[in-house]
Amino acid sequence: MLGNILNRKNGKIGVFDSGLGGLTVLAALRNNNPEYDYIYLGDSARSPYGEKSQETIYQYSRQATDFLFRQGCKIIIFACNTASSQALRKVQENDLPEGKKVLGVIRPIVEKCAAITSTIGLMGTKATVSSGAYNRELSAVGSKAKIISNPAPLLVPLIEEGWAKKTITTKMLKHYLLPLKSKHVTALILACTHYPILIKQIKRIMGKNCQVPDPGKIVADSFKDYLARHQEIKLSKNGRCEFFTTDDPEKFRRLAKTFMPEKIEKIKKIELI
Ligand code: DGL
Repeated sequence: MLGNILNRKNGKIGVFDSGLGGLTVLAALRNNNPEYDYIYLGDSARSPYGEKSQETIYQYSRQATDFLFRQGCKIIIFACNTASSQALRKVQENDLPEGKKVLGVIRPIVEKCAAITSTIGLMGTKATVSSGAYNRELSAVGSKAKIISNPAPLLVPLIEEGWAKKTITTKMLKHYLLPLKSKHVTALILACTHYPILIKQIKRIMGKNCQVPDPGKIVADSFKDYLARHQEIKLSKNGRCEFFTTDDPEKFRRLAKTFMPEKIEKIKKIELI
């Protein structure tokens, strides 16, 4: 009885993305902390977010946050740079029930790159690049690096279509990356959680003089530290993971294989309002 009451108080970890990209973060989180219970929500029906206005991205993110809190999440990670750059602050300021937390992906990546002093390349969605969030956060941690950004609007639709391995995707990557390579960037920030599934092609194009850190691992390592510093956040530990999508669950299951090794048993379709 007491066990049940305590368990009800312990919350799950919500992981939210506009679609499938956040699975790269979920996989790293599960790898670091398999003991916790996770709920993944991919808003594939309305993906990509990267082309939408700040107000729309905020509304969608708020709906996702409400849904995940209703499902028993105590803490939510926006595993989406677009939502992190355009909506996170507003959600943190206006929409948090007591004792709940929402975190983003930008701060951990920036902290990891803070020591780089040379030129950093950044590739992300239009909304992430135009928000200037990475530039602001890098200055806030005292970075002296020069940032050169390139929006890559066509990559998310190609990836969500399951076309990551097609020649057209490599061609698009070259189109977006070669201008950064020609500026001799020594590190490339993948400012979109969809891109790590292209990391091999990206590294090949950028060459050995450019490091390309894995953002999923950075976020997961930082989250582990965060939980160690915040022992007051009580999380349930049954090692379960539930999946929700706003689009076709079968398409989600088929494409999810490319993003995470874990086999997904059950996916529920929901509508976000
Ligand atoms: N994975 C999202 C991100 O990190 C993709 C954004 C989109 O839907 O355009 O930005």
